[in-house]
Amino acid sequence: MVTARLPQDEIDRAVVALREGELVAFPTETVYGLGADAQNPDAVRKVFELKGRPATHPLIVHIDHPRQLERWALSVPPAAHALAERFWPGPLTLVLRRAPAVDLAITGGQETVAVRVPSHPVAQQLLRAFGAGIAAPSANRYGRVSPTRTEHVQEEFGAAVPVVLDGGDCKIGLESTIVSCVDAVPRVLRPGAITLSQLRAVVPEIVDVQGASVPRVPGSDAKHYAPRTPLSIVNSRTLEEVVRQLTADHGKVAVLAMRPPRAANKFMTWINAGRRAEIYARELYVNLRTLDKSGAREILVEEVPAGEAWDAVRDRLRRAATAENVVTVDPDIAALRADFGEDVLPP
Ligand code: TXA
Ligand code: MG
Repeated sequence: MVTARLPQDEIDRAVVALREGELVAFPTETVYGLGADAQNPDAVRKVFELKGRPATHPLIVHIDHPRQLERWALSVPPAAHALAERFWPGPLTLVLRRAPAVDLAITGGQETVAVRVPSHPVAQQLLRAFGAGIAAPSANRYGRVSPTRTEHVQEEFGAAVPVVLDGGDCKIGLESTIVSCVDAVPRVLRPGAITLSQLRAVVPEIVDVQGASVPRVPGSDAKHYAPRTPLSIVNSRTLEEVVRQLTADHGKVAVLAMRPPRAANKFMTWINAGRRAEIYARELYVNLRTLDKSGAREILVEEVPAGEAWDAVRDRLRRAATAENVVTVDPDIAALRADFGEDVLPP
């Protein structure tokens, strides 16, 4: 995995592009970002246009050091200070009241701003060389799977984003944990690699209200982080049965599971992503992209375990699936088949 620094001339080219109001894709430890000079409203508008993202959905401002926070936030409450101290640089985004100079194009018209100090060495190099804030969402089309490699950014945007800094595969692979410190009680708006108990070890009163509608978090839209192929979450017990039904007419099915298949089936592509949350998370978007390209009519994802270590993965999978995509199999039939074999027919 390449996480080394890049040659300075590559960084310099990216800085020139940013200063000229162009967009630059860059690696972070979570996912790749599509960056614009945060002080250039036209450049920021380009991000929204290129992503196809509604103007009301705010961007994260990336800075190189916590001391830059004062430029972007009107005030930094003690809880935010404590979290920044403990988790920056790293996969944490803080939502704070915006400083008056923060462009409303970034904040989606809101009075709050999201800020993060990424730890990826290339992101750090870029931010230091640029010397100012970079507004960046994940470098994918609106609603799609976030990129964790440069090829993904190229797949999403091609020549429309000429400067893509290559920092190798993202180590975390899921977007940052977002905590709003705007109200008296800080709230988790999006789960990520930093878990609720890690946050609570620093700020015990933090509450978990993912998917709250205010402030707006596009990641909480019904369908987000989604492949093109319909995706359904399926209980492990019924997985093979659902595959059997869906491939009965020789249609293809793709499966993301945590174990090997119990029955062979030539119409299925099966990825065993294993049972370790950290590795599963790191590879989730690569795996979804692979399965999306397999020509399957449906992606089935084995339900992941309960428990905090899986919160971020569970959240992204839930958003990638939609209610109308959920395939169900009568559990009684599945159980009977498990006991008596294929002779049990569906009603
Ligand atoms: O890991 C990450 O956070 C990546 C990397 C590139 O830093 N970025 C990322 O950006 O995931 P994006 O735009 O895909 O998601 C940013 C999230 C959105 O859900 C957005 O609504 C939320 O941050 N956000 C931004 N500003 C906000 C605000 N003022 N209040 C509430 N949520 C905000
Ligand atoms: Mg995104």
